Amino acid sequence: MKFKINNGLIYFFGALGGLLFGYDTGVISGALLFIKNDLHLTSWTEGIVVSSILFGCMIGAAISGAMSDRWGRKKVVLIAASVFCIGALGTALAPNTGVLILFRVILGLAVGSASTLVPMYLSEMAPTSIRGALSSLNQLMIMTGILLAYIINYVFAATGSWRWMLGFALIPGLLMLIGMLFLPESPRWLLKQGKEPEARTILNYMRKGHGVEEEIREIKQANELEKNQGGFSEVKQAWVRPALIAGIGLAVFQQIIGCNTVLYYAPTTFTNVGLGASAAILGTVGIGIVNVIITAIAVLIIDKVGRKPLLLIGNAGMSLALFVLGIVNALLGPSTAASWTTVICLAVYIAFFSLSWGPVVWVMLSEIFPLKIRGIGMGIGSVTNWLANLIVSLTFPKLIEQFGISTMFIIYGIMGVLAFIFVTRKVSETKGKSLEQIEIDLRQQAEHKKFNFSQSIQK
Ligand code: GLC
Repeated sequence: MKFKINNGLIYFFGALGGLLFGYDTGVISGALLFIKNDLHLTSWTEGIVVSSILFGCMIGAAISGAMSDRWGRKKVVLIAASVFCIGALGTALAPNTGVLILFRVILGLAVGSASTLVPMYLSEMAPTSIRGALSSLNQLMIMTGILLAYIINYVFAATGSWRWMLGFALIPGLLMLIGMLFLPESPRWLLKQGKEPEARTILNYMRKGHGVEEEIREIKQANELEKNQGGFSEVKQAWVRPALIAGIGLAVFQQIIGCNTVLYYAPTTFTNVGLGASAAILGTVGIGIVNVIITAIAVLIIDKVGRKPLLLIGNAGMSLALFVLGIVNALLGPSTAASWTTVICLAVYIAFFSLSWGPVVWVMLSEIFPLKIRGIGMGIGSVTNWLANLIVSLTFPKLIEQFGISTMFIIYGIMGVLAFIFVTRKVSETKGKSLEQIEIDLRQQAEHKKFNFSQSIQK
């Protein structure tokens, strides 16, 4: 049999997608310091080199769901893994800026597909009991990928070899490609195709024969429900609007509060405030370590503390750190004190992000939409997230050149205040509620509104 490989490995190879997502988006941060000199980038081309991958991500996220419905999860993940490898080679060997940008877009197609398919594949393979933990685990893999990228950046910084930094992604890419060849297709997808015997064999193997018939029955029921899923017309209905507003708002605010201006540009910012390249990249490694540890803590406490309190605490901490950074730099100008304040403030900022908006947004996007529009809702959420990321990351170098570090980080801090207000007004807590209860609440909310409206007309 093809899939004589244990469950742990299935999750490991599946999760490599999250790792590559983190690596490929994060590695540019350190590489950029050297690419900038080598290929003579201006602040605009700098923004384009960083964000071209995000353009690919947006397209990958938009098309991969439908592709995997048609061809199966495994085939599309295999294609994505091959594209990861091609992209790693292409960017590492790029002779000029144009080719580099082209391969970054291609790489983005793989990252965007992985961002939607990996969590989907894992949740379809996992037993129900651990399904909830998977979306936050994916975020942990993303953060680990970013940290790995920062470490590799540091290793190659001494020689300035940005090509090795970008090319290193070939190793996890190949691992994923080879591992995936041995993994089974998702039983849920197979059942959708009417391939019950194959699905049964895989489930029997993965669950060691326990509860297989019951699971097959459950999956069939879920598939039946999904058949009645509405299309875009459902999305327009008034009662689902609050969920859409909350979902899109969370996806967009996660980006415009500036997380990736730090994660992609931290070394650039550090050199701007006077650190040398090597110290700047080492500072960034520190930020990466903070990232991973705090995300692990967030995964552990998200169900106890709740989503909303985490988001609000996150905003308070992030905005405060950015205001301090902005004010100190404005008052002191370039100086040792200002550069270390910048390192510390960005570390504090990222610590609060990793505790809150990083993991919480992806968890909530998988919870807040009613079943009828869950697929479309998540798709809209992830595409708008990549789009917002693209706009913020593309414009950052130019905006910094134009307005300076102090002003820009204070603006992201103000966005954090707006995000705080948005969460208090438009986001409902989902902790401890079943997906069904979340949907019932949404309907009741709409009824309530209608009732109030007709009463006020009668008066
Ligand atoms: C979230 C964001 C992504 C960011 C990452 C950092 O996944 O959506 O844009 O890079 O967190 O870990």
